[in-house]
Order: sequence, then structure tokens, then C-alpha cells
Amino acid sequence: MTANARFPVPPGVASKAHINATSYEELYRLSVESPEKFWDKQARSLIQWRSLWRKVVSWDFAQANVQWFVGGKLNVSENCLDRHLLHRGDNVAIIWEGNDPQDVRRITYRELHREVCRTATLLKKYGVGRGDRVAIYLPMIPEAAICMLACARIGAIHTVVFAGFSAESLRDRINDCGCKLLITANEGVRGPKTIPLKETSDEAVAACPTIKNILVVRRTDTPCSMTPGRDISYEEELAALGDEYDTAVESMDSEDPLFILYTSGSTGKPKGVLHTTGGYLLHVTATHKYIFDIKEDDIFFCGADVGWITGHSYVVYGPLSNGATTVMFESIPTYPDAGRYWDVVERHKVTIFYTAPTAIRALVKEGDHHVKRYDRSSLRILGTVGEPINADAWLWYHDIVGEGRCPIVDTWWQTETGGVLISPLPGATETKPGSATRPFFGVQPVVVDEGGTVLDGNGVTGRLCIKYPWPGMMRTVYGDHQRFVQTYFSMYPGLYFTGDGCRRDEDGYYWITGRVDDVLNVAGHRLGTAEVESAIVRSGVVAEAAVVGIPHDVKGQGIGAFCVLRDDAGEGIDLVERVVRSVREVISPIATPDALWFVSGLPKTRSGKIMRRILRKIGEGEYAAVGDTTTLAEPSVVEEIVEVVKRSRDV
Ligand code: WT7
Repeated sequence: MTANARFPVPPGVASKAHINATSYEELYRLSVESPEKFWDKQARSLIQWRSLWRKVVSWDFAQANVQWFVGGKLNVSENCLDRHLLHRGDNVAIIWEGNDPQDVRRITYRELHREVCRTATLLKKYGVGRGDRVAIYLPMIPEAAICMLACARIGAIHTVVFAGFSAESLRDRINDCGCKLLITANEGVRGPKTIPLKETSDEAVAACPTIKNILVVRRTDTPCSMTPGRDISYEEELAALGDEYDTAVESMDSEDPLFILYTSGSTGKPKGVLHTTGGYLLHVTATHKYIFDIKEDDIFFCGADVGWITGHSYVVYGPLSNGATTVMFESIPTYPDAGRYWDVVERHKVTIFYTAPTAIRALVKEGDHHVKRYDRSSLRILGTVGEPINADAWLWYHDIVGEGRCPIVDTWWQTETGGVLISPLPGATETKPGSATRPFFGVQPVVVDEGGTVLDGNGVTGRLCIKYPWPGMMRTVYGDHQRFVQTYFSMYPGLYFTGDGCRRDEDGYYWITGRVDDVLNVAGHRLGTAEVESAIVRSGVVAEAAVVGIPHDVKGQGIGAFCVLRDDAGEGIDLVERVVRSVREVISPIATPDALWFVSGLPKTRSGKIMRRILRKIGEGEYAAVGDTTTLAEPSVVEEIVEVVKRSRDV
């Protein structure tokens, strides 16, 4: 099988799908020729509104102002819960698969509704209301989804922080958006490890003046310290509440904030991506329904953590809005062994499975027998997200996991886009391994060259921009609208710039080639080079650092760090350890460098700018391709760096 193979839509899939090739073409044309008409209709049929809008969309990319369903009123929690109670209240909303495969919980829509209402009542009791920010630092347990929905119910804005982030990262996020309450657990369990979440939370909030209370969920029997007057036990409060809870929902404006999620950029600290209510909910509901071809009896399993946008949109909001059954997975793909995903698929009869290329590559290495010993006949559709997928991994996923039977949807999107923008539709789109294929309804991608000239026609390569708003797009960077304008709308005026490079092939298919800015994608996790460099310098032993992405066969991209030691750093093995420890403490273990090179200087221009292009080439092992170094202040450092890197790779 060659890498430019094509996979037609299986006829049995097309005939039963919501959208087939003909209806895709028709609807896509309508969605770009008359976007307001298209989205108006979708909004009426997919979402329950308390009152309708005055205007479908109002937008101005120059000022970065976008509003959808202006004046409309709704509540996200009501859409995800209450509206399903009449006809599918006893359907399972969440199948929770705990770290231990024996540990399973099934929660119906009726039960979930009750828990969300109880939690909302509790939040109100502690003074949380409309517009207040709540930080959620929880493992993948049902309470994470319950707390998100409880916030949405009362109009509070949640900011979920991935439970793998350090105390310092948690603190920065809480302080940036001024959270009133933090929700955490005593500890988390993930694979063979336990994670001391309450301890980390205590450390974080020691310098968070806006936090009034910490609500602590008990995940394990391990005791944790509780500060009287500040810390509250979730279970004790709920027990005291009994059935005395409030089922009211806040009527939210379509443009009221729903959540803030922090993500890394090419400069500075992570930014608070703000998503609002109506547009976001419609976007995730529509994409989830059409891209995964969701039907009432589907069991949808997205392996992402709710700490990332994929978890928000496709573990919680999209599936629950559609009334589907969503699997929440607490563990990791290799625990207790590399067959875990397929064990979950067999036991819960998963019909749609969605994961990241890095997980697929890690499992390819473990061998096919881990897959084949489980029954995967329930699977109907497979999805990937997070980074470009190499053809080998795609073909393995297709042939081994999906037994050649299941279409793969390679979904391209970003934290900023809220939901998927480019992806095949399983009943409509012929796929090509490695291509995210065609735009979703209403999405108008353009390819531009570096100077911003729009490249028309097919067979072009450049940078990916979007020229028309879509409902799920972010509305601002929390507290810094100027940064929103600057980052996304100033590079190519009139266009939203994604930061990704891409090719549109002869058939009009999109191939995302990866970031063109200083953002790394390490095992599907997004990290800024500047952020990692600053964490390295914080170790106290490094004077200056430059970080580049290096090829890594499982992570896709690894982190290569070139470090100039301080004169007073001393020598020895613990220098590496100090750098690594600093990165883990300042950011998270996910930012740990894969290669560390101590060098005596970095290649800089005469004006002092680090030439990352050169370091990237060296990191990739393309020593001869460093190109012209004559403009450097000190060309000789390049030879030294090449020697250091080569030597490290010889051993
Ligand atoms: C960046 C966004 C969207 C949820 C997970 C990541 C890369 C994402 C694909 C894909 C090629 C992809 C892009 C994008 N990316 N999906 N299917 N093919 N690249 O969200 O952390 O905001 O990262 O992930 O480079 O810009 P994120």
C-alpha cells in the first residue's frame, strides 16, 4: 500500500450517514454562499433556545470582534441535560472507565442532571454566581464533567487546568482570571502513579488572593490536609444537601462567556482562550453530530483529558448536547498494558473512537497482538486529532484497529477554534492518509504565502488562514483583547491566521504540515518555545537557552534545548537534573526536554536575534543544511554546536 492511497467511502456507511457526498457538496455550497441562512437553520434544529436571536452573526476581523446569535438566550447545561430527560432520561450519559479496569460507573442523563443540579446548588451556597471564575483541577472522573456543567448552569465561567500541570502553572492561571473557587481532588490516579492534587493546590493557592474556597472531591481513601474555613469536602456537603437542591438554570446571553482555557503561544505566558455560549455549543454539537455521524445508540469514546479543548468539546459538551453516551477514561493507553483501549472498546461496545496520532504511534510499537485479542466489531468510525498523522500510523489504525472497515476522520482544529474546522465526513469524503481533507460546513480556509498573498486554485503550499467567522471561534484572550488582535488578525489583515503551514492538493484536499511559529506540538501537547526557555533559565544554572522541536518517533516532536551555562554553574551531572527539575516545576513533566545540549554560545545575528532556523536544522540532524552563517555575529559557534550534538548522538 502506498502513502498516496485513497480510501473511498464504504457504501454501507454512506447510505446510513447523516451526510453523503451529494449532500455535503450542496450543504457546503449553501454554508459559504449564505452562511447566515445555513447557521440560522442549524441553530434552530440542533440547540434549544430560551429566546431567539436578532442577528445570526456580526463580525469585524480588524478589531477582532465576533458575535453569533446576537441577543439569543440559552443555557448549555439545559441543552446537555434537561432537554434529554423526557425521551432519554434513562439512557447512559457517561460511562466512566476508571484507572482500574474493574472500576466502572454508568451515569444516566437523569442521574447526571441530579448531580449537576446538586453541585450547582453547592456552588451558589459558596457565593459563586454569574460571571464568576471557577478553576477545575481534577482528574478524569465524572465530577470533572459535573462541575463544568454545574458552572454552565449558574453562569459561572470555568477554567479547567490539566491535572498534570505544576503548582506554578495552576497558580498563574487562577491569578490571570481571578478565580473565586478552586475544585480539586485529594489525589488522582493515572496508570501506576498517584498524583497529589490537593498538595499541589495548596501550594498554588498560597499566592492566589482571589480564591475564597477549595472544594475537594475524594477520589481515593488517602487523607489530605483540609484548611478549616477554606476547604470544603464535596461529599460531606452533598450528603448534607440530600434532595434539597435547586434545578433552576440561568438564562445566558448567546455571547456570555462559557469557559476560559489556557493554551501556549509563541510568546509570553499561556493565554486565556475565551469561548462563549451559543456559538460554541452549536459548533461542537454540529461537528460532533456530522463528523462522527452520531446516532442515538452510539457509544462515543474520545480518549482526551478534559484539561484540553478536545476533552471540553468532544468528551463533555458535544456528546452530551447530542444526547449520546460518552466514555470518560481515567487511565492511560498502556495501563495495565497496551491493550487497554481495545479492552474498553470490547467491554463497552464502543462504536466511535477518537484519539491522537502520538497514542497510535506508541501502540504500533507494542505490537498488533494487543489489538487483536479484543473484539472490535462494534467500531464504526475512527478519529484522530492533535497533530499531523503519518501515513504509516494512519494505515495501521485503519487496517489493524478498524479491520479495514471503519472510515478515519482526521480532524484539524485548535483550542482557539472551539471545534473541528477541517475533516472528512465519514459518509461523504474519500480519505487520503495524512490529509484532514475538506472544510466543515461554513468554514472558508485560504492558503497565503509568507507575504500574505492569497494563493488561489489547487496545488498550492503556504500558511493556513480562515476568511470568515465560524460559530465556535474564540472571542478574545481573557483580559487582553489586544493580544487577541495581535496574535491572530494582524499578520494577514482581514484573515484569521492559524499558525499552521498547509498544502491544498490537486483535489482541493488540505494537508496540515505543522506550526510555522514558535509553538511546539509534543505528543499532542502544545508548548511555546519561549515558555520552555524561561523555565530552563529559572533553574539558575543556565544563562540563556534556545528550544527547538526535534523529530521523535512517538511524540511526533520532541524538545531539544540548547543551553549556555552560567559562569558560576559549576560542573557535573546534576546540571541536567536541575534543568529538568526546573521545567517540571515551572510547567509540567510534559515539557521535559528530550535532549539537552550545553554549548558555549548560541548563533545570533549581529543585532542579537537567535537564529532558530539553524538550531532547528542541527536538531533535525541536518548538519550540512544549516545554510548561510555569514550574517552571524560569531559563525564559529555553529561548528561547536554541531560537534556537541553529533557527539551526544554517537553515544
Ligand atoms: C494545533 C492546535 C484541536 C485539539 C487538539 C490540539 C495541530 C491539531 C491536527 C490535525 C494536523 C493538527 C495544529 C494546530 N493539529 N489537529 N488533525 N492535523 N495538525 O489543540 O493544543 O490547540 O493545538 O494542533 O498544529 O494548530 P491545540
